[in-house]
This record gives sequence, C-alpha cells and structure tokens, in this order.
Amino acid sequence: MAHAAYFENLAPRMASHYLRSRRKNKIRQGFLRIVCSKWYWVVPALSCAENPLRENKMKSGIKLRGKESACLAAVPTGRRRARGMLVTFEGSDGAGKSTQIRRLQARLEKLGRRVMVTREPGGTALGERVRHLLKFDPAGRDMRDETELLLFSASRAQLVREKILPALARGEVVLCDRFVDSTTVYQGFARGLDAGFVERLNRFVTAGRLPDLTVVLDLDAAAGLARAKARTKKTDRMEAQRRSFYEKVRRGFKRLAKAEPRRIKVVSATGTEEEVGARVWKLAAKKMGIVGIS
Ligand SMILES: Nc1ncnc2c1ncn2[C@@H]1O[C@H](COP(=O)(O)OP(=O)(O)OP(=O)(O)O)[C@@H](O)[C@H]1O
Ligand SMILES: [Mg+2]
Repeated sequence: MAHAAYFENLAPRMASHYLRSRRKNKIRQGFLRIVCSKWYWVVPALSCAENPLRENKMKSGIKLRGKESACLAAVPTGRRRARGMLVTFEGSDGAGKSTQIRRLQARLEKLGRRVMVTREPGGTALGERVRHLLKFDPAGRDMRDETELLLFSASRAQLVREKILPALARGEVVLCDRFVDSTTVYQGFARGLDAGFVERLNRFVTAGRLPDLTVVLDLDAAAGLARAKARTKKTDRMEAQRRSFYEKVRRGFKRLAKAEPRRIKVVSATGTEEEVGARVWKLAAKKMGIVGIS
C-alpha cells in the first residue's frame, strides 16, 4: 500500500521539483548576467589599476583616505607623470639653502613657471607651531631623540598633505627647504635611531612621494655655522649641536647621495652666492628640461 501511495504522488512531486529547479536556474542565470555585465567589472578594475604608489601603500599597510587618494592620483607614477615637480634642498645649517631657493624661485618665475616655496619643519600653521617647539621653545630643551623624530615627522605629514601634494597636482614647482632626507640623516644617521623604522616612518609621512631632485649644499660644518651665526645672533636648538655632529651630518648626506645618485646631487656650497647659484641652476634646468638658458 505504501508503494501505491508513493507512486500516486510521484507525478505532482516531480512537477513541483521541476518548477523549483527552473526557478533556481533563473536566479542563477540572473546572477551571472549581473556579474558579467561590464559595469560591475569597471569599478573594481579601476580601483585595482596599476599604481606603484598605491601598491607601495598597500604593501606597507597604509590605507588611503579620500582627500589623500585624490592627491595621489595626480602624483607622478611610472605610467603617468603629473607636471608638478618637487625639488628639495638639504645640507647643514648655514650652507645657503634659503638663499639658493630664493634665487631658483626668481629664475623659474621669470620663465613663467608657477613656484611654491615652503620649508621644514613648518610650512603650515600647525607645522610652524611644531617648528617653534623643535627650535626655540624652552620646553624642548630636554627633548629626546625619539620625540624629535616624531615632531619633525608630524610637521612633514601635515605639509605633504596640506600643501605639497595639492601644489604638485596643480602642476607647480615646489621648492622645499629640507625634507625627508634630513630625517634620514639627522635622526637616523647622526642620532643613531633605528634606520629601518625611520625609513618606514618616512614613507608613511610622505605618502611615498620622494622629491624629483634633491640638492645637497655641501659645506664644511665650521664654515656653515659661521655663515649662520653671521646672519643672526639667535642660535636654535638644532644649531647648538657639537661640531662632530655636523661632520656626521655632512658624511650622512654624502652617503645618501651615493645610494641614490639619480635623485640626490651634492653641490659644493663654497664660493659666492652666484657661483653656487649657477651650479644649482644647471641641475634644476636639466631636470626640468629647460634648455638654452645658462
Ligand atoms: N655662497 C655664499 N657665500 C657667502 N655667504 C653666503 C652664501 N650663501 C649664503 N650666504 C649667507 O650665509 C647665511 C646663511 O645662508 P642661508 O640662510 O641661505 O643658509 P641656510 O642653509 O638656509 O641656513 P639655515 O639652515 O640656518 O636655514 C646668510 O646670511 C646668507 O646671506
Ligand atoms: Mg634657511
């Protein structure tokens, strides 16, 4: 009897199974149609588009935020170069960085280039407060090396995002008085803080944006300090370091230039302002593709 009942209900059960599987198939087909339609591939494809900076950031575990990623879109990468150019000036105190930046700015503006000049630490309202802490505030007298590293980095993180990346995105030439190499040399090499950590921190702080050209003005430490002292009687906390510290800084910049010869150029800062200016111009003009103007 049981068998009879089974066969009696077989037909309606088969019919209902058939209908259910048709419904499932329809849902499956609908899903496939959605996945295969091109619009659903364009978005992930765009967000994964090859961008070395973005990859770097992902590797280092740094997440991009909205405004920052908008700026990075205009940052030179291997495939697409924005027109902006970042030129940084390094060297020991009194070597003539500010003087040469002013000269280069004037020459570039004469040629119609838009130039933004900024400095480190500082360059933003927040950064200028940090600059005061680092250089002049009596509260900084007992500053530890680790604190110094983080304060310089804080100022730079703000400057990069608030000023430098937007200026580069607008196609401007940015001339920056000291930048990331100062941290590598002063806090890493001369103060002896963990070089690997300093490098990772630098990458985080700069959003991976290295300068296109770094001019290291090289001058004997004593001569540099003499120039700085002649300019002003006020000595800041960094300038009050021992002579051996400055010699180490000088060696550090030279070593860095050897490691990255395409980006970092050591320029002798001896001679008159005009003589040094001519050396700087030669390098900057070459990098910017300016020909025929010496
Ligand atoms: N080639 C040069 N010959 C002689 N004096 C110079 C030369 N270049 C700059 N100076 C003078 O040396 C002093 C220091 O120059 P400048 O302020 O440009 O150096 P700096 O590297 O910016 O110093 P700091 O690190 O303290 O900011 C200034 O008084 C400047 O006029
Ligand atoms: Mg200066």
